[in-house]
Amino acid sequence: MNHDEMIRHARQVLSDNDRGAYTVPTHGLYPFQWNWDSALSALGFAHYDEPRAWTEIETLLDHQWDDGMVPHIIFHAPDDGYFPGPEVWGTGRAVPTTGITQPPVAGFAVRRIHDRARDSALAGRQARALLPKIHAWHQWFYRCRDPEGTGLVALLHPWESGRDNSVDWDDAFDRVPIDGVGEFTRRDTAHANPAHRPTDGQYKRYIWLVQKFKSLGWDNTKLHDASPFKVVDPGFNAILIRACEDVADLAARLGMEEIAKESRAMADKGVAAMESLWSDELGQYLCYDRAEGKLIPSASIGGVLAAFAPIPKHRITALVRRIEELGEVCNYLIPSHDPRAPEFDGLRYWRGPVWLIVNFMVADGLQRAGEREIIDRIMGDCLRLIETSGFAEYHDPVTAEPCGGAHFTWTAAMIIEILHTFEVAA
Ligand code: GLC
Repeated sequence: MNHDEMIRHARQVLSDNDRGAYTVPTHGLYPFQWNWDSALSALGFAHYDEPRAWTEIETLLDHQWDDGMVPHIIFHAPDDGYFPGPEVWGTGRAVPTTGITQPPVAGFAVRRIHDRARDSALAGRQARALLPKIHAWHQWFYRCRDPEGTGLVALLHPWESGRDNSVDWDDAFDRVPIDGVGEFTRRDTAHANPAHRPTDGQYKRYIWLVQKFKSLGWDNTKLHDASPFKVVDPGFNAILIRACEDVADLAARLGMEEIAKESRAMADKGVAAMESLWSDELGQYLCYDRAEGKLIPSASIGGVLAAFAPIPKHRITALVRRIEELGEVCNYLIPSHDPRAPEFDGLRYWRGPVWLIVNFMVADGLQRAGEREIIDRIMGDCLRLIETSGFAEYHDPVTAEPCGGAHFTWTAAMIIEILHTFEVAA
């Protein structure tokens, strides 16, 4: 497949998953709007339909909560093909949403789409309208998920990370009880191979946390302290820091001084705090279990995704070494877990497979830091994966086997973005 054909296929995927004012990640498995899927998918649309790209992000932020949170799923139209649906969450919104959030990549997307827009008048109007909302979301994070002001926010549910069943959560998640979780029927395993999905035991704990938060009325002034699961993820924090930095930069150029100043301060504090997560032993950042007060020695992609943030140059250099090392033990970069670790599973979701969105964010961070060689390898691997196995949700880093859902929106969007913005061999 040449690049033009690839882009044509990718646009077809986006158009098939387009529901007018938002896209679904894929038909069947994920029939609603997902937060970070939308922000990243907008990058793909922007190359050929800027108004549609802006609409995607606008729709997402239309469902922001009064306290500033932007929810992880918006249940625009009923669909009983997904569990847990609106009745399980019980958030009481007119258009139902979940009560947790997802990686705040929207600030990065808005700046990127704005800065390369052909229609700069539209881009200016959209950015002015969207930045205050995104800024309120960022402030919500530091207020509600970092109540002690450490500079790092905690996740209260693995689904907030976007890396649902990562090895990173295993020990902390084991402490989440399952009492009182009634019988339920999973829907995901009807759409995708159960061997590629989280286990039933994990699903019970996912639901226990939802029930706990619901019993507290989804009051974000209470959830952080009440949750038995409180994990600081370097990848998630890197996305938040990068988004604050991008918002600071764009807001300054648009004359939105207050937002620029506050965003810059949040980003600076976050970058400094990230140092506490560095592991010399693994050569990457680690998660921190805030409930137990200890680092989690798990060799996952979360600690490599930190390259997306403006971290110090010597840390970038070390992360490049880490990625090179991973490249020696798999065929396609970047595995979501180190293939040499005993927990590695090349087919199971976030416990080994390659995800194009992560590859893109890591490569973007490395590009900003002036790295070159490793980016060629990462981007080349992305294209080979799609050529071999199509626009799957994720791929096995050794065999390239396509896994999870097929015809996947953000995988397609990433191909459009990568082919337009990185120099990749034809
Ligand atoms: C899965 C992924 C998550 C993504 C969602 C929709 O839950 O782990 O990151 O947002 O699917 O694609």
